[in-house]
Amino acid sequence: MRSRDLRSVPLAPALTPAEDDPVIIPEQRAKMDAIIAEHSKKPGSMMVILNEIQAEIGHISRPMQNYLAEKLRVPLKDVYGVVTFYSFFTMKPRGKHRIAFCLGTACYVGGAEMLIEKAEQILGVKLGETTPDKKFTLEPCRCLGACSQAPAVMVDSNLHGRNAPDKIITVLRKYEKIENR
Ligand code: FES
Repeated sequence: MRSRDLRSVPLAPALTPAEDDPVIIPEQRAKMDAIIAEHSKKPGSMMVILNEIQAEIGHISRPMQNYLAEKLRVPLKDVYGVVTFYSFFTMKPRGKHRIAFCLGTACYVGGAEMLIEKAEQILGVKLGETTPDKKFTLEPCRCLGACSQAPAVMVDSNLHGRNAPDKIITVLRKYEKIENR
């Protein structure tokens, strides 16, 4: 099997609009307007607003970033920079459960690549993608601060350490029913 260079996997989506999200739908715009009106005068408002948008709408797409940049009168690159720096933010809707595979040094050396390949095989999607049933999203992440438990995986807000490829299905089954594969 040819090894993939997982360090080349972007930790955030590329700067291209998602085809399935070309515009802000009116309901999203109304929610954004309410959030912006409530927080725009506060110090550090951009971070607060982005947190609220992520929590309320579930993602912050390119059109939404454009809209926020216009409303706050800041460059789009500033908004984009924050959204792509913090893995909490996402530009596309995530599945019900976010599975974050640590690609820090200890986890990478400890077998993160094999874990990812097994999860991809079980769920039928690649790293960075969401399953068609919207139950799981597979993502890379930076060090989770649990290097002694490498290779580590964070599912939602739960840390699972000392994983092995043949055990990853057990972790996934804690969250959703998965047929035998
Ligand atoms: S390198 Fe994975 S938890 Fe630190």
